[in-house]
Amino acid sequence: MNRTLVIVKPDAVERGLVGEIVGRLERKGLRFVAATFGTLDRSVAALHYAEHEGRPYYDGLLDFITRGPVLVAVVEGPTDAWRVVRLMMGATNPLDAAPGTIRGDLATVMAENLIHGSDSAESARREIDIFFPHLGS
Ligand code: TYD
Ligand code: MG
Repeated sequence: MNRTLVIVKPDAVERGLVGEIVGRLERKGLRFVAATFGTLDRSVAALHYAEHEGRPYYDGLLDFITRGPVLVAVVEGPTDAWRVVRLMMGATNPLDAAPGTIRGDLATVMAENLIHGSDSAESARREIDIFFPHLGS
């Protein structure tokens, strides 16, 4: 799978870090092939985060991801784009994220960790289909 879904989250937009995050991904060698900017409908966010339904942080997660505009994008690389993005994102909890990663360098708390990236080829297909059904997969 050479494409994956990225969401530059509301905290990143609020903090003016969209360019920083997009720039990091581009400099690594990923190409932006589709993007949309705006506030997610809660129903779309729920579909995207369906695997987390029932978790204690779920409602807060939906509040957070819909609180302001996000950049949703499909990025492409030569191979396993999802792995490249996950490596550059760093661990889910910024307290565990290594320096050099987006979360490790720029974030401090789990609930506001700046970026989403699909966690497998299968997730990438599913998530791209939610936001960019016309792209096919
Ligand atoms: P998850 O898919 O586990 O992390 P990742 O974004 O690294 O793929 O969780 C989705 C988001 O949910 C995560 O980015 C932040 C939030 N979250 C919490 O707020 N608390 C938690 O305990 C977990 C696991 C996630
Ligand atoms: Mg995830």
